[in-house]
Amino acid sequence: MNTHTAIFDQWIRTGFVTLNSELEQLYWQQTDKANVEGIGEALKQQLEKEGNALISNLLAEGNTDQGFDSAFDLLGNVGLFMAACRRHEITEPSRETTSPLIEASALAMHIGASIGVTPRFATAHLTTHNKALNGIYKRFTNLPDEKLFIDYNTQGILAYKRASDALLKILPLGISHPLCGELLKVAKQALIDVTESNNALYSELDKDRFFNCVRPYYKPYRVGKEVYRGANAGDFAGINVIDMLLGLCSANEPSYSQMLVDKFLYMMPEDQQILREAMRMQSFMDDFLQAEQYKNTDWFKNHATLFIQVCKLHGDTAVGHHNQLVEKFIAQPSKNMQQQHMSKVTASGPPLHVLLDSLEKLRDRRASAKRDDIKTRFDDLNTLKEWVK
Ligand code: HEM
Repeated sequence: MNTHTAIFDQWIRTGFVTLNSELEQLYWQQTDKANVEGIGEALKQQLEKEGNALISNLLAEGNTDQGFDSAFDLLGNVGLFMAACRRHEITEPSRETTSPLIEASALAMHIGASIGVTPRFATAHLTTHNKALNGIYKRFTNLPDEKLFIDYNTQGILAYKRASDALLKILPLGISHPLCGELLKVAKQALIDVTESNNALYSELDKDRFFNCVRPYYKPYRVGKEVYRGANAGDFAGINVIDMLLGLCSANEPSYSQMLVDKFLYMMPEDQQILREAMRMQSFMDDFLQAEQYKNTDWFKNHATLFIQVCKLHGDTAVGHHNQLVEKFIAQPSKNMQQQHMSKVTASGPPLHVLLDSLEKLRDRRASAKRDDIKTRFDDLNTLKEWVK
């Protein structure tokens, strides 16, 4: 790391966290905890001034190619700063047509375009690609609620990736290969891990703290002229690889492919590559259905039974995400929020009911629920269940 990059990184890990934490404390003391206007103005100015000064040094330095990892890391640091400015309403996308953080925008666009990712901080910056120094990784605040949220997000993502890696390894072997069953068992265990981790997050995370002090750092913000949507824990390829390899969701279904198109640049380039490949593969569901002639063989019965169990477990993770996490931590608190802040919940994103409706459809595809309005694999899974009886 060169000197300016190191100094900025040091600030992101120290002074930046202190300023955000002090501001959170001031907002939290109010009766209307969602208000940020007119609170802690001196701290906000200090945050903006210090961040901008460190970023001007980096921008002046230009492209000092230090490789992908350090460019991605620096983009994350600039992004954390811009997201914090958005959280404290130093910037506000509906108030402006271009980001007032001119230098930060220029640096973010330069790096993002050069490495093939969106020019904002992404989930990977805080979860899977967040270097810890002496046990402490990068965060916005020193609130234990934020650490808990990031720890469980990382755990969930890593477990989904284990499931997707195992499923990808079946592709070159085929569903009748003797080792297919072992790989399906690995996927099963990994999906059980996702559910357990999400259950722990559900019961341990404080809903008011999350809604008021953690979630606001994940809002959309402007970089240059464009508004980039907020980061979410789904911005990695594994979840969609599982969807498509199992055959529960399909890349030629318009709303699903729309989601994939929208998320590509929010993922690491290696994930973009994996996702592209998975979009071209035939699903295991179709492989099993096409292997009807073998339905009475041992391998078919064993592997199809495990496959059905993997589908069920994947559905369970989606049901838990929607009915527990989204419901408790987004939908319910939004209903209670003071009307004056409501527009800001969905600022620059879709209205809440539209978002909830699309997440519900995704849940039902993953769970192979019986629905007449969207295509799910309800009937196909029942056929397989009949065959292995
Ligand atoms: C997306 C809420 C934790 C996986 C979303 C979205 C919301 C949400 C509202 C939609 C974002 C948008 O389209 O704008 C939450 C809440 C959580 C939480 C409130 C906890 C407090 C997690 C965890 C995982 C996860 C731990 C596991 C890795 C996903 C995935 C998506 C997503 C995969 C992308 C959409 C999809 O494919 O389902 N989440 N989430 N989330 N989240 Fe979470």
